[in-house]
Amino acid sequence: MCGIVGYIGKNNRAGEVLLDGLKRLEYRGYDSAGMCVMDEDRQQTFKAIGKVSMLEKKIAKSCVESNIGIAHTRWATHGKPSIKNAHPHTSGKIHLVHNGIIENYQQLKQDLANKGHKFYSQTDSEVVAHLIDEYNKKYDFEDSVTHALTEVRGAYALVILHEDEPQKMIVVRNSSPLVIGVADSEFIVASDASAIIQHTSRVVYLDDGEIAVMTPDTYYVKTFSGKNKRKKEQILDWNDEQAKKEGYAHFMLKEIFEQPESVSDALRGRIIAKDGMAKLGGLTEVEKQLRTIERIVIVSCGTSYCAGLVGEYMLEEYAGIPTEVEYASEFRYRKPLVDKKTAVLAISQSGETADTLAAIREAKNKGALTLGIVNAVSSTIARETDAGVYNHAGPEIAVASTKAFTSQLSILVLLTVFLGRQRNMSLTMGKRILSELQRIPKKIDQIFEGEKDIKRIAKKYSKYDSMFYLGRKYNFPIAVEGALKIKEISYIHAEGYPSGEMKHGPIALIDKDFPSVVLAPKDSVYEKTISTIEEIKARSGKVVAIATVGSKDIENIANDVIYIPKTLEMLTPLLMVIPLQLLAYYAGVTKGYDVDQPRNLAKSVTVE
Ligand code: AGP
Ligand code: GLU
Repeated sequence: MCGIVGYIGKNNRAGEVLLDGLKRLEYRGYDSAGMCVMDEDRQQTFKAIGKVSMLEKKIAKSCVESNIGIAHTRWATHGKPSIKNAHPHTSGKIHLVHNGIIENYQQLKQDLANKGHKFYSQTDSEVVAHLIDEYNKKYDFEDSVTHALTEVRGAYALVILHEDEPQKMIVVRNSSPLVIGVADSEFIVASDASAIIQHTSRVVYLDDGEIAVMTPDTYYVKTFSGKNKRKKEQILDWNDEQAKKEGYAHFMLKEIFEQPESVSDALRGRIIAKDGMAKLGGLTEVEKQLRTIERIVIVSCGTSYCAGLVGEYMLEEYAGIPTEVEYASEFRYRKPLVDKKTAVLAISQSGETADTLAAIREAKNKGALTLGIVNAVSSTIARETDAGVYNHAGPEIAVASTKAFTSQLSILVLLTVFLGRQRNMSLTMGKRILSELQRIPKKIDQIFEGEKDIKRIAKKYSKYDSMFYLGRKYNFPIAVEGALKIKEISYIHAEGYPSGEMKHGPIALIDKDFPSVVLAPKDSVYEKTISTIEEIKARSGKVVAIATVGSKDIENIANDVIYIPKTLEMLTPLLMVIPLQLLAYYAGVTKGYDVDQPRNLAKSVTVE
């Protein structure tokens, strides 16, 4: 999720406002940045690799007196961070910046190349500029945009300029955020209000499927189909920091609530529903070799390790491939038995975790095929693995990993179907898994309806010093992840255990001051989990149960119950983890800790 800014008004201060806006949006993406400003006679485009300050240095010597411009700070999804891939992107007299993912960009690119279009970058975004330019051969600026959009599929917030109409800016919103700031003699468009709030508190939020056509004096909004829309102005009473968090108290809470969108982005363009197949472009080069793989070893750390544990269950049950998960920090010092029939899969949000990187290098030395599930495009792990799949989750600012985790799980499901359909998974099974996976974002939203109750339960249990988190099968890893979350955010000592393991020692700790969170979805081991709860209650232990909607019986034995929607057993981890993230968050808030930057922790552990 990058940051985009647009400016049009009666004052010649586009350059200043755009640069300042990029600085405030830098938390949304920071691998490269660019700007295009225009006046009657010419347009100037500047681009730089790295942070916005590098762009500022490049612009410093130039005069950018202008009353119209667009700017972008990038979080790459398609095409590595480079000057060529930095936005704005141009075709003919069209210049644009884009936030989002164009699902069908390869097809569009091929069609346009056949019409003679030459592409400069590897991005999906540049294709939209060429498409509008192609339509501009027959239509005016505004109509070229609306015609082009009929062919584009995916998520996009666009701000577009045309050299022949230097007093017009067209803004488009579809699944990526865009807000218009309305000031006395100027308009500022941005990905979020943090780039606007210091100029005006009057804002208009565009909705999906809307286009704003703007001039220095006014603007109007219409739908993609051309129907005029009256938009209500809102007055924001946020300060800068609140604007970056879009009104959420912390980045962690914002990122928890972003998960319906980040899971959707992980799946975007990667499901071929009719064939029950997953399309993972990053694995194309090793597709044949993957058919011969006889074993998978997953290497990762922390929350990414917990994602790997879930992946083990999926890959063994549905792809039929023997899989094991190793702490990367252990793998690198053991004598791991891997060879060319082994795929070593690194899971890493940052793509820079030293232990995971070292494990991958060790695996490569032993001739294994190395794969990555990584969020940061062109990060070291992404570059050093033979192939991989990007999360497209956007920057994760909070130290505690939340949206990256459910994004990792989503991609592990896609990978399971990809490998399973190479082997014995039927078309029916593939379709069944993928169609339910596409319902997960809405089901996560349903869990948020119970936020108030989860907050109450978090407050109630935040006074304890120790807790168990218990789960079976697919939810044993979620018990480990839930325990990690509450440890790192509220400093409560919590242990994640397989429920069946309780009777082999840990149950000795249970008493009225040692509560347990028990993950109890209506799955193949539900009855066993009920027994676990009974065992705890028999020893005066308190129980918070996370259960499937409709499991009314559990209310008779648990002290507190949080419900999640029903889904396939293999997909319950994507839902089960949401209440645990909120429990950890509100426990930390109740205890007054800095939940975005917990003590002793770093977002990316690039040292041993
Ligand atoms: C999770 O909340 C922590 N921030 C930490 O355990 C993290 O998952 C771990 O350091 C691995 O990071 P990576 O995914 O960037 O490799
Ligand atoms: N997909 C576009 C790119 O890779 C935009 C990425 C973003 O929104 O961060 O440049």
